[in-house]
Amino acid sequence: MDVPTRMKAWTCRRYGGPEVLTLEDVPVPAIGPDELLVRVLATTVSSADSRVRALRLPPGFGPVGRLMLGFRGPRRPILGTEVSGLVLAAGRKVSLFGVGDPVIAFLDTKMGGHAELAAIRETGLIVGKPANLSFEAAASLCFGGLTARDYMRKAGLAPGERLLVIGAAGAVGSAFVQLASQMGAHVTAVTSAGHVEQVRALGADLVIDHARENFIAGGRSWDVIADTVAASSFGRCLPALRRGGRYLSIAGGLADMLIGKRGDKRCISGPARSRLEDMRELGRSAQSGAYTPLIDSIHGFKDMREAHRRVDAGRKRGSVVVRVADA
Ligand SMILES: NC(=O)c1ccc[n+]([C@@H]2O[C@H](COP(=O)([O-])OP(=O)(O)OC[C@H]3O[C@@H](n4cnc5c(N)ncnc54)[C@H](OP(=O)(O)O)[C@@H]3O)[C@@H](O)[C@H]2O)c1
Repeated sequence: MDVPTRMKAWTCRRYGGPEVLTLEDVPVPAIGPDELLVRVLATTVSSADSRVRALRLPPGFGPVGRLMLGFRGPRRPILGTEVSGLVLAAGRKVSLFGVGDPVIAFLDTKMGGHAELAAIRETGLIVGKPANLSFEAAASLCFGGLTARDYMRKAGLAPGERLLVIGAAGAVGSAFVQLASQMGAHVTAVTSAGHVEQVRALGADLVIDHARENFIAGGRSWDVIADTVAASSFGRCLPALRRGGRYLSIAGGLADMLIGKRGDKRCISGPARSRLEDMRELGRSAQSGAYTPLIDSIHGFKDMREAHRRVDAGRKRGSVVVRVADA
């Protein structure tokens, strides 16, 4: 297939609600000798896309937000952190992938996935798509999965330890519940009544409905508390952490980042590191059926604004997927 010079992409040129998104005709990204051009078949609207579009940052990051992301609107106007699709073209030095290969690419903070085509270095965060995964599921593999794996590693979560996951139905939370229960941790999940059965099916041993029960006040304690939705804080969770406990402030603000330690209890925060080896492992687990990325809903490419509205509501289960094209 000839490589087109123009493509359709959703752009965000000023911060605001989903209405600021525009479907534009833009140049196809030029690829270097070690890069691939991927024809995007599916992508997701992640909580990161929604945050960047709205300039909605965790508490304490407001003043540096525009400096980091762009003054009036995102410096990188095409959002989208993860895609699945087919390799359309490969630079002359590319040896790991060939034209036509089905792939999953994690574009991370560079974004650019809400478009018909996306460029990525062949040594970047890109893996072959497991044959048994749909392109929609493949596009949902990384955002939650990579974050959960990195935070599990930072926490040193061990088999037999007791883990509390707050926000267990979300993209990060649902990955945490699945991966931690598979490695032999005892998982308590915090979610709302409508998501209890889903979260149990992912492997949670106990489920707490956050509308009915205050998990901190119940007298129970955990080795690791992973808060994926900033519904708690390190300080408030101290009584619920066991000796040597770790509090994971995955969506928390600057305050949690600055605390670090209280006695023998640690607060771990900051951006998750996305690793190729973790992507490969998630792919292998998905291929064997051990790991299934949770999909909230699937939207058409023209319905990108609707997909953002679903994410903005803060109630999604797993990933909101956008189908960009048919295979
Ligand atoms: N540190 C990092 O590198 C990193 C990486 C990725 C994401 N993040 C951040 O992590 C956060 C979560 O991302 P995500 O994509 O997983 O979010 P998400 O999918 O949008 O989370 C939605 C889920 O949150 C749950 N929820 C909302 N309020 C809750 C509460 N009070 N208690 C328990 N659950 C609650 C909802 O479940 P119910 O309707 O059942 O309440 C819903 O299922 C975002 O803020 C994102 O920016 C950070």
